Amino acid sequence: MKKRIVVAISGATSSIYGIRLLEALRRYEDIEIHLIISHWAEENIKIETSYSVEEIWALAHHNYCNNEMGARISSGSFRVSGMVVIPCSMKTLSAISCGFTENLIARAADVMLKEHRSLIIVPRETPLNVIHLENMLKLARMGVSIMPPMPSFYHQPKSVDDLLNHFTGRVLDLLGIDHKMSGRWNDGLDD
Ligand SMILES: Cc1cc2nc3c(=O)[nH]c(=O)nc-3n(C[C@H](O)[C@H](O)[C@H](O)COP(=O)(O)O)c2cc1C
Repeated sequence: MKKRIVVAISGATSSIYGIRLLEALRRYEDIEIHLIISHWAEENIKIETSYSVEEIWALAHHNYCNNEMGARISSGSFRVSGMVVIPCSMKTLSAISCGFTENLIARAADVMLKEHRSLIIVPRETPLNVIHLENMLKLARMGVSIMPPMPSFYHQPKSVDDLLNHFTGRVLDLLGIDHKMSGRWNDGLDD
């Protein structure tokens, strides 16, 4: 069976992280991508990227509107390997941490939690208030990977693309997917 990954893009700035992850996942023939894009994510995609929303939908194998509560990924009986909310707005973070499953992103994430499956959240806001931090802590205590899109520089990035690729590689690492997105620190073990 193919490895099924749910990717959810919510309405925080930096939707390009979600797009880059989709582009990376699409290269694997044994991965099936299930994509949800929130209304405000669609707006942000138009504001801050050169992609059309249709181009992004085309990167996934299965697409869902955020109000599609009857979708297969709304049920724990539908087997998926993991879910990434990238980027995750503070509103969606709050919904997930409170179990307020009034849209499909929150419901699919809730299913990950109840089925003890891998959930990765890429929260995007700055600065963070106590509500944001407490919501992240609560989820981290439940085993969720909280992965803020913080750039690293040890791989000597030359462009925004390099930063995006390196971060995407770290997300793939958490999903247990082998990749060559970016160099690793001292991976050659030459000393
Ligand atoms: C241009 C733009 C940028 C935004 N950036 C952020 C952000 O970085 N983080 C955040 O939590 N919300 C951000 N918002 C607000 C969210 O879009 C808003 O809270 C929305 O209700 C989130 O809904 P969703 O999580 O269902 O997509 C932004 C909104 C706009 C229009």
